Amino acid sequence: MATYILGIESSCDETAASVVQDGRRVLSNVVASSVDEQALYGGVVPEIASRRHAESISAVTHKALADAGVSLAEITAVAPTFAPGLIGALLVGINFAKGLAYAAEKPLVPVHHLRGHVASLLISHADLAPPFLCLVVSGGHSHLVQVHTPTAIEVIGHTVDDAAGEAFDKVARTLGLGYPGGPAVSKAAQQGDATLYNLPTPSAPGEYNMSFSGLKTAVMNLVNTATMKGEPLDVPSLAASFEQTVCTVLTDRLFAAAEHVKADTVCICGGVSANRVLRAQTQRLAKERGLRAAFPDLAYCGDNAAMIAAQGFYELQVGNTAGYDLNGYPTWPMEEDYSAP
Ligand code: KG4
Ligand code: ZN
Repeated sequence: MATYILGIESSCDETAASVVQDGRRVLSNVVASSVDEQALYGGVVPEIASRRHAESISAVTHKALADAGVSLAEITAVAPTFAPGLIGALLVGINFAKGLAYAAEKPLVPVHHLRGHVASLLISHADLAPPFLCLVVSGGHSHLVQVHTPTAIEVIGHTVDDAAGEAFDKVARTLGLGYPGGPAVSKAAQQGDATLYNLPTPSAPGEYNMSFSGLKTAVMNLVNTATMKGEPLDVPSLAASFEQTVCTVLTDRLFAAAEHVKADTVCICGGVSANRVLRAQTQRLAKERGLRAAFPDLAYCGDNAAMIAAQGFYELQVGNTAGYDLNGYPTWPMEEDYSAP
């Protein structure tokens, strides 16, 4: 019998719901974003995010079920993101999911948002299966992980300061490119020359750890110095240098680890995995080494609930369910299964 998981995602500024069949087949994928409103403030305002979730979660979920042609009674389990994320935002999705699970007498399956990003690879590539090495690069996190199984994930490296996406967002703000910063920096960079500015390639203690805050500061210093001296600034070229440096930091760690753990497949997921330069560079380096490189379909790079529903399938398979006392958590280690406090 088919398994239908209803995934619900509300950890940041996307309210999303999706029905996924048997962990791989996306039957619906509905996303309502408050990003345009957040852009007015240059970043996510947590209270605005929570309020928009409260307003749209019922309609988004209703549409996800209708698009899938699956009734609530036919759903196998309800899987909300429980961590990490903005607490007020998470609680909207969690409590809505609880209400549905309670009313329909279905299991409640808590899903870790970053494990969900890893699952976005599995819904994008029918033939991809763990083990693989994976960079999870989003607005709040940058982790290098070994995916042994969908629910056995080992973190072998992480950023010691800013996340890669956060660095894109901050640099975009410094360069006056708007929010969200990743796509804006990337677009500007296409008109620039990445060799014009020499930015430092930051290192971090620990073999596979990363650092992005020094790089961000270097861009800020360049901009401030140019402004003070009244010198012109080549924004596209600075954006291109920054983008190239972030990609180099990420791919250096990924391929050093791939060699060490003898991975034959390297993956990148999370919002930053939409980046064109990062994809091209990873693809090229993988090819040179005879490795497979995989990225999520663009629809599943940013936050969505299809990846949460997909991960919910694997969590349910190993019995990771929660009671109605399920809470939300701003942080939670990616390796650790949910357990009631
Ligand atoms: O995974 P995601 O949608 O949300 C979080 O879980 O944080 O990631 C959002 C992040 C933002 O920082 C955004 O600027 C970045 O992903 N991003 C990109 C690109 N598209 C989105 N960064 C670089 N290049 C892109 N094309
Ligand atoms: Zn995310």
